[in-house]
Amino acid sequence: MILVTGGAGFIGSNFVLDWLASGDEPVVNLDKLTYAGNPDNLASLAGDRRHIFVHGDIVDRALVASLLEQHRPRAIVHFAAESHVDRSIHGPGDFIRTNIDGTFNLLEAARAYLSTRDVAGKASFRFLHVSTDEVFGTLSPTDPPFSETTPVAPNSPYSASKAASDHLVRAWHHTYGLPVVTGNCSNNYGPLQFPEKLIPLMIANALAGKPLPVYGDGQQVRDWLYVGDHCAALRRVLDAGRPGETYNIGGWNEKANLDVVHTLCDLLDELKPAAASYREQIAFVTDRPGHDRRYAIDARKIERELGWRPAETFDTGMRKTVQWYLDHQDWVRKVQSGEYQQWINTNYDAREGSPA
Ligand code: NAD
Ligand code: TYD
Repeated sequence: MILVTGGAGFIGSNFVLDWLASGDEPVVNLDKLTYAGNPDNLASLAGDRRHIFVHGDIVDRALVASLLEQHRPRAIVHFAAESHVDRSIHGPGDFIRTNIDGTFNLLEAARAYLSTRDVAGKASFRFLHVSTDEVFGTLSPTDPPFSETTPVAPNSPYSASKAASDHLVRAWHHTYGLPVVTGNCSNNYGPLQFPEKLIPLMIANALAGKPLPVYGDGQQVRDWLYVGDHCAALRRVLDAGRPGETYNIGGWNEKANLDVVHTLCDLLDELKPAAASYREQIAFVTDRPGHDRRYAIDARKIERELGWRPAETFDTGMRKTVQWYLDHQDWVRKVQSGEYQQWINTNYDAREGSPA
């Protein structure tokens, strides 16, 4: 079996659902259920004995040690993190705790666990660390995309905490021989993403008749990857990635934020027409401090070594995503209750241009 951390969040829950849809190997899913963790994402697994959900914190050493001892997994797939840049600007403390202390704790627990395994068990074990392209910092319009050898230069508290965790993972391989592999992936989108991130936030606001808050001039560029493609890439890295290596994972889809928002509006105009085009709801608001201008991924290594390429194009992935949100308005309404409104006020009220 495998131990997944953060498997009630966006990418983690997509990974767990895909994993159990394509095989029978059980999953122990350790998740703290922060605001971003949602047991509803896993509702279709109710009663499925292959899924063992554990409500707990990756920083809890005794808990992690006992889970490893009890279940003896052949791999840890580590998604658990604080993941939202804007939240890291308003409150970096949780990012340091979960992303750095939490990863340190998992590495130490994995090291202690492996010391009890035989040579074959040690050699076949994998610690798969799920990371981001944001650790590489920002690119100019003419720079080549990030490769695995691009120097790390994080600019936000979020990306700095992820870069720190990447360094720990690397060091535990070099120093202690822990069989680690790391994926540095670009921006994901798709079903089950919490509506604080660009794409689900814009869909939710559009349908609610609210402004679509584009930061700054909207010309910041991100590479976008459909979440199912990221999950497939991670399965390949887990199966065949070389210990100690990092793999950049991307969609070959560089888009300016404003173009992404236009695409969303046009899809909604087609699938859920309103009296006026959704584009009329676009509102330019004060930029994010330290906003990285451009991310781009050179994903040739994972293609060359592991034969992975994304299956979705931006057009097919975005259409599926918009349709999923239209079909799951109850899910959206439920996650928008509670803490959500408080976050929206914190992030948007003070921005000039924000009519929110
Ligand atoms: P998310 O915020 O949707 O989910 C994070 C999950 O981790 C939640 O279920 C949360 O409850 C859990 N969690 C948080 N702190 C925890 C703790 N201390 N102990 C146990 N569980 C805890 O995040 P996501 O978008 O699914 O991202 C998953 C991983 O992928 C993160 O490591 C992130 O850095 C990385 N990543 C995300 C993207 C993206 O576009 N979303 C891109 C590249 C890499
Ligand atoms: P986000 O989804 O937060 O991901 P990240 O910051 O990790 O790339 O944001 C994606 C891009 O969209 C980023 O350049 C910031 C921008 N953005 C907006 O313009 N408005 C918004 O309300 C949000 C949440 C993001």
